[in-house]
Amino acid sequence: MAAIESPGASAEALKATIKDFWEQEVCGTRNGAEYASDRRRFFEQIDQVRYEQDYMIPNFARFEQAAGKRVLEVGLGTGADFVRWARAGAEAYGRDLTSASVALVKERLSLENLTADVATGDAENLRDFPDNFFDIYYSWGVLMATPNTEKAIGEAYRVLKPGGTMKLMFYHYPSIGGALVWLLYGPLHRDWRWPREVIADHVESPAMKYYSVRDVRRMVRRYFRDGPLETHTLLGAGDLLTHRFSEKYRGAHWELIQQIYPRWLVRHIAGHRLGTVLTIHVTK
Ligand SMILES: C[S@@+](CC[C@H](N)C(=O)[O-])C[C@H]1O[C@@H](n2cnc3c(N)ncnc32)[C@H](O)[C@@H]1O
Repeated sequence: MAAIESPGASAEALKATIKDFWEQEVCGTRNGAEYASDRRRFFEQIDQVRYEQDYMIPNFARFEQAAGKRVLEVGLGTGADFVRWARAGAEAYGRDLTSASVALVKERLSLENLTADVATGDAENLRDFPDNFFDIYYSWGVLMATPNTEKAIGEAYRVLKPGGTMKLMFYHYPSIGGALVWLLYGPLHRDWRWPREVIADHVESPAMKYYSVRDVRRMVRRYFRDGPLETHTLLGAGDLLTHRFSEKYRGAHWELIQQIYPRWLVRHIAGHRLGTVLTIHVTK
């Protein structure tokens, strides 16, 4: 089954729901919640947890290679990655659908005396930027959450310079993490819909899409026709159950599940090919 794209006006309504969802809680902030009153400590804690769980980010993003480059990050969350572009000496631009994320990123930048262009914006319509403007377009865990993913990739292509690179992370299907969500909310709740339909209702923001490597490559190739394209799948925190559970999964039985989860088998039998993290690196 192909990933679901949402057309027209209903897509705009869905985007408003997605925006509302992320305005309530900026993703990643729960990892620093106990230090919320000490803002430096708060951001440090968020970052520590982030790079333990999403251990592959530094190697994929290569922040240190961005010095002097013009970088656009779309979908900023707490700005953990975004400040790394700025620290590395990039001319950094950031856009997020929500004012909650933008406020947090601006706070973080000012704590470090860093300057960057950060504002609300939509991956599907990067109207602030001309064609052929950026050296790097980066977006981690965002474009599969927007209703018209293909349009967002088209926008990334438009704003990149020839020779510029696009780096994305999508959620991968089939994956262990996706299968766990499907099991929990599908068969265990007598919901017999296709796995991807069940997952869409229960992972993060509404209508989340999981993509196969083949679907992603096909979609990217509609714009980036000739440039080198690399895709990799990796086991992430959702596959290994190493992430901090949200409020709805609090309680002794969830702790027990996390303790007895057969991580060794997941690592050594399933392996990265069934990981949820799907990285995409392509040159315009
Ligand atoms: C899952 S979080 C990921 C944030 C960050 N990249 C990270 O890894 O922590 C998704 C973020 O993307 C933003 N977002 C969702 N759809 C977007 C869109 N169409 N344009 C810009 N930002 C979007 C949300 O507001 C949210 O901050």
